[in-house]
Amino acid sequence: MNGEVRQWVRTARHIVLLSGAGMSAESGVPTFRDTQTGLWANFRPEQLATEAAYRSDPAMVWDWYQVRRDSIAKVQPNPGHRAVAAFQRRHPGRLTVVTQNVDGLHQRAGSPGVLALHGNIAEDRWLDAPRACCDASRLRDGRPPACSACGNLRRPAVVWFGEMLPAAELEAAEAAAQTCDLMLVVGTSGVVYPAAGLARATAGRVVVINPEPSALDDAGDAVLRGTAATMLPELLAG
Ligand code: APR
Repeated sequence: MNGEVRQWVRTARHIVLLSGAGMSAESGVPTFRDTQTGLWANFRPEQLATEAAYRSDPAMVWDWYQVRRDSIAKVQPNPGHRAVAAFQRRHPGRLTVVTQNVDGLHQRAGSPGVLALHGNIAEDRWLDAPRACCDASRLRDGRPPACSACGNLRRPAVVWFGEMLPAAELEAAEAAAQTCDLMLVVGTSGVVYPAAGLARATAGRVVVINPEPSALDDAGDAVLRGTAATMLPELLAG
């Protein structure tokens, strides 16, 4: 472990932890861009995780999300998630989690105020703007469920390709990135914007934690080649 980085953690007033799929890899959630076993191995993301794909074959995309939901419900936060939450308990207000992950594992580990830029896979919302009839009492079961009065479909509350990020979360994440004095960039390939841009928008130091090279390595004041579940407990021990 790089002693200098531990010193940065000890002295930082405000830390942002920006996480990606690699944060949850050791919980058993496959990453996106691992070509052998990744979630997108058999699909091109833009074919599946888009509004157009959902509208053209809602049952197929809904089923694909149900499989992901079922597998995520069975996994647990790993020592990396738990080290982050424990640090936040010991140092209230000193660390903000900004995540691209939709798996809810930071939240389940006990992290407060997680800024989930890409939504939460456990939740649904209406596909079209809800009308007066669209309420829970009229929900008709199905693949996907729909409003029995107007047919409006439910959809996973995740951000699809081509969609805007939730404005409040993105604004809060940008403000945190701009004002923090240390950003830990954990388990992201750094190729999906605007999330990856947060690491370039900070005036603070940037530490990249990733066992493999990433597109954000050049933004790092330090690059630690290790995994989330091994590096974070050590780094955030104080
Ligand atoms: N610990 C830390 N990093 C890891 C680990 C681990 N145990 N295992 C893998 N990694 C790294 C990989 O080396 C890779 O750089 O995690 C990264 C995962 O990258 P991606 O699969 O591209 O995931 P992510 O960066 O989160 O993708 C961003 O793309 O498809 C969209 O919306 C989706 O939020 C996702 C976004």
